[in-house]
Parts: sequence; C-alpha cells; structure tokens
Amino acid sequence: MVELAPSILSCDFSNLQGDLDQTKDTDLKMIHIDVMDGIFVPNISFGFKVISDIRGKNDYFFDTHAMIEEPIKYIEDFKKAGVDRLTVHYEACKNLDETIKAIKNAGMEVGLTFKPATDIDLITPYLDKIDLILVMSVEPGFGGQIFMEDSVEKIKFFRNYIDKNNLDVKLQVDGGIKTTNVDKVIDAGADIIVSGSDVFGKDIKNQIDKYYEIFKQKSL
Ligand code: DX5
Ligand code: ZN
Repeated sequence: MVELAPSILSCDFSNLQGDLDQTKDTDLKMIHIDVMDGIFVPNISFGFKVISDIRGKNDYFFDTHAMIEEPIKYIEDFKKAGVDRLTVHYEACKNLDETIKAIKNAGMEVGLTFKPATDIDLITPYLDKIDLILVMSVEPGFGGQIFMEDSVEKIKFFRNYIDKNNLDVKLQVDGGIKTTNVDKVIDAGADIIVSGSDVFGKDIKNQIDKYYEIFKQKSL
C-alpha cells in the first residue's frame, strides 16, 4: 500500500512535539524531515539537534530530505541524530557515487532527488544504487506551493523504469500534494506521498486518517 510521509516543515515549531503527538493513533509509519541550508535553497529550516530531540520521543521511520550543499560532510551527523533514510539532491553533490556509498556505509537507506529543471536522464544511471527516488513536484525550499502538473509524467516514467528493470526502489513524490489531488499522484505510480501544509496546520489526525482512507480505497 501507499504510505504517507508528512513533512514536519509545516509544524508549529513552538510546539513541535505537540503536533507530532497528534499523529499518534493513526496508520502513520514515517515522517518527512526537510533540512535546508540557505545555500542550496533560499530558506533555512532546522538542523541536527531538532532531529535528535524528536528522535527520542517518536518511533517513526525518519525520512530525511537534505536540501543542502555537499551533504557528504554531514552524513555522520544525520546518522547520529537518528535519521533512517537520507535523500540527497543530484545538484548538491560533487561526487554523487561517493556520497551514496558513504550514506550506505553509515547504515542509512539512501534516497536521490533532483530539482524540477534537471534532466531525468542524468538521474536514471543511479537508480540501481539507491533505495528511493524522490520526484519533486515543486521547486525545493518552501512548503505550501502549488503542485507542478508536469511532474505526473516524471512519476510515470520512474514507475515504468523501476518495474521494467525489476528494481527494489521506492518512488516518493514531494510538494503541493493534498487529499484533493493525491489521486493522480497515486495513479501515476507513487509509493510514498509527502504532504506538509495539508497535514500540519489543519486537523492533523483527521488529515492523516483521510490520506490512509484514500490509500486503502486505491489498494482495493
Ligand atoms: C519543499 C519540501 C517539502 C514541503 C512540502 O522544499 O521538500 O517537503 O515541506 O510541503 P507542501 O506539502 O506544503 O508542499
Ligand atoms: Zn521534502
């Protein structure tokens, strides 16, 4: 079944654990953690201490999206903070092969993503080296943006590529997804749906339940 990875970027940071407590008693298995450095993207979110503090209080799989230059410098910090999967940007890594290897050696799953303007032919050679491919359906940097419709074709492309080549790679989609448009993202072949502003800032438990209702319907 499809899984939800709600992005804590849209949480109320003055009450972060309070928001996370509202996700309990749902089907949720993971949370999406957006780390931004103000250089790779024009926004700064939060760092290792925040991740490590919530790690102590939440059993979820920590799905982390690093929007930072040269993430290879910080792999040990992510691991120590309690990250389970580290997704890096193609454009941010001088040596992507080394970065992928280092993430695996640190004992984390590795994800790869790319900005909307990046040619997907540059990405496919890495598909057999990673655990997850993330299609960005907005320009990385901010929550609450509008879903880019042309990402649907990219999702279909990667779904087809993964299945055709029998790869053990999860397909995640991130940006502008709501209960009202998640349908087409699932139909295009996504395995993991990231949603920030449509979960946090609303009735959190109710929104998560709504997503899982849709996922269940779709898997019938
Ligand atoms: C954007 C982040 C997303 C963002 C999603 O740079 O990677 O994870 O928080 O937020 P929404 O669902 O509001 O587009
Ligand atoms: Zn993200």
